[in-house]
This record gives sequence, structure tokens and C-alpha cells, in this order.
Amino acid sequence: MKKIKIGLIGWGTVGTGVVKLLRRNSALISRRLGAHLVISRIADLDIKRDRGVKVSPSILTRDPSLILNDPGIDIVIELTGDPARSGDFILQALRGGKQVVTANKALLAESGKMLFKEAEKNNRGIFFEAAVGGGIPIIKAIREGLEANKITSILGIINGTTNYILSRMTEDGISFKAALSEAQKSGYAEKDLSLDLEGIDSAHKLVLLASLAFGGWADLNKVSVEGITNISAEDIAYTAGLGFTIKLLAIGKQTGAGADLRVHPTLISHRHLLSSVNGVFNAIYLEGNYSDQQLFQGKGAGEGPTASAVAADLIEAGENVLSGDYLVPGKISVEKDLKLAPKGEIECRHYIRIPAVDQPGVLARIANILGAGNISIASVIQSGRRKRGIVPVILMTHKSREEAMEKALKRISQLAEVKSPPLRIRVED
Ligand code: HSE
Repeated sequence: MKKIKIGLIGWGTVGTGVVKLLRRNSALISRRLGAHLVISRIADLDIKRDRGVKVSPSILTRDPSLILNDPGIDIVIELTGDPARSGDFILQALRGGKQVVTANKALLAESGKMLFKEAEKNNRGIFFEAAVGGGIPIIKAIREGLEANKITSILGIINGTTNYILSRMTEDGISFKAALSEAQKSGYAEKDLSLDLEGIDSAHKLVLLASLAFGGWADLNKVSVEGITNISAEDIAYTAGLGFTIKLLAIGKQTGAGADLRVHPTLISHRHLLSSVNGVFNAIYLEGNYSDQQLFQGKGAGEGPTASAVAADLIEAGENVLSGDYLVPGKISVEKDLKLAPKGEIECRHYIRIPAVDQPGVLARIANILGAGNISIASVIQSGRRKRGIVPVILMTHKSREEAMEKALKRISQLAEVKSPPLRIRVED
């Protein structure tokens, strides 16, 4: 049976999982592929650390060029996550005629347009199943299983760290700080935690999903992004009382005016399929014009699930090596940019919490501002008096335009009785 040689650059948690998986499932993979996948070299800055898996010291190196310049290596797995060097590793691999498998969502979201074009120029593929949703085969589902559909809507819980924090705050009433410290222990968090908490990691993944599903490259800089750091236990309690769960959603929708792409904390009904996706789990809800509604759920990170996604890509890249046909079916679109819908036009219902001084006339002034913006109030909750006289005024609105809501919130925050900026959470109906 033919051997397909693989070079692994970046031997961290996921790389270790891939080495273990290829060893443990070697017979079944060889049988399915019709060839042996062999890791012939591993490059990492640290080749001494015990990873709990034995590999021959002769294949270990600190020098990635021994992989990139080896003509016998057909596939390069790039798992360094190194923002400075990973792009160069991928370019060199493609230019050397190698297939590339990567989990580097940030790099692909930021520089994917250039990298995928380079792959095409060199008649090679970049495979990135592990970049979105860990072990959930969502990339392949969109690329192949749903290829005949016009996908109209994507709603994703695609960051395990923030989902864990919101779930623990909701289910167990623990504080943001305590939930965050637990989430970090789960090992899912990025080195730069702000990527998780500020929604940027979700935006990176949304760019890849939307570019794949909507037929044009989605510009990361045009995705609206808000994280979860302003969400309080109070918001969770109030919204739960109204029948909602708060989730950090990555939303992609095809509208008549273009694609609407955003990441923000979102209220979804307790009855929505995504509301029961808790802890570090990820889930992606898709609507296709023939497939209808579908939910893909699974572990969005971790050694085993992510290795499963990398290995699936290795098998597909291996099939290309065997056939000599490097066309990636349903490949990501980079030739044209995705037309995006004007942000101000988007309409949804809102939850608004306004920390205001408890005195006569405040509610009327707030209502006047909303009315002037043509924003209709659906319900109001104002609980009892508190120390220092600040009370949260909680409002639910009917559907209102984004632009009108932003203007109104700005005016409300300028009222003398409003002591800190109002918080709003959009509702996904
Ligand atoms: N930081 C990411 C998460 C890791 O929490 O989901 C997986 O991409």
C-alpha cells in the first residue's frame, strides 16, 4: 500500500491528538483511504516535553524548513497558531506543491483571501475543518452535504469559552469572574483571552462559515462584533424571567440587501434549539432552501475532537494526492467579495437595561427618546428602590432598526439621570 508522508508543524495539544489518532485508527484509515498516512517529520520549538505519546526522536526537529523543503512530504499540517510565522509556513508549503491542513481560524479569517488564491494558483488545497466547531464536521457539511442548497441562515455558538461562562452563570448562578476562571481551566480559552470574551474568535469562524456558505469572501473588518463582558447576573435573571436565554451567537443571514454578519450576545427563546447547547459545547444551526433547518452540535475544541477534524482533512487531502486531482469540492469563494447588508437597516427586538436615578419623570424622558426614534416599547420592568437610588429600568422593544436604536441609546446615555451606559441585547426571533 502506498505511503503518504505528512509533516506536522506545531506539536501542541491538537498535534499530539493527531499523532495519537493516526496511530490508534491507523488500520481503519488505511483501509478507507487505500494508503497509509505517515507522519514523517514533526517540527516544534519544544521537542523535549513529554506529550504522552512515543515518537522516534529521529523525526523531531526544531526547523520547519526540513518539512517545507522535503519533496517527499505531500501534506503539511500547520498547527502552530503563530500569528507571525504560520502564514509563511502555509505559503511555502503550497508553493512547494504540498496540500495544507490547518486549524488556524484567525489567520484564515484575516488572510484567507490571499492564502486560498495562492492555493488555487498552485493547484493545491487548504483544508480547515478544525478551524470551526472543533470536531463538528460543519465545513464538510456545507461544502458537500448541503452543496445543492442556497443557505439562508447560520446561527452559531462557536466559542466554547464564552458558552461555558454564560451557561454557568445561567444554570448555577455563579459570577462572571468565577465562571471565567473555571472556563480557563477547561483549556479551551485562547492565549489572548480577549479573542474569546470580545467575540473576535467567533467572528473569525463566522467569516469562514459565511464565505463558504454565501458564495463570496466575507471581510472580517465589516463584521459587527460585541463580546459578553457587559453581561451581568442581573441581565441573565431578568431575561430568563421573560423566557429567554443569553447566548453569544455568530449570525449570518442572507437578506435582500446583502449578507448580515454579526457576533453579539443574543436573546433566544427557551424553546429555540440552541438554548439547550450548554457548557463548552458548540452548535451551528443552518437553514437551507431545500435542507430546511438543521442543527450540528459537538465539542468545539480539545485534543480528541479537533484531531478528528484534522484527520478527516488529512484523509481528503490524501485522496487528492492519490488521484492527482487537487480540486477541492465546494471550495471557499475568494474571487468576489460577499455583498454585506447595510448595518443600520437590520431590524430586531431589543432588551435594554438602563441604570437610572430613581426619580419622577425619568421613565417618561427615556420613553420620549425611544418614541422619537420610532422605537415602540413592548414592556417595562422597574424594580424597587436601591442603595444610592440607582435602579435598572428594563425595557423590551418591538422590532426596531439598528440605526434608530443606536441613536436612541446614545441620547439615553446622555440623560443626567442615567449614570452608566445602557446595555442592550438583541433578540433573535
Ligand atoms: N477558544 C476557542 C473556544 C477554542 O473557546 O471555543 C476553539 O476554537
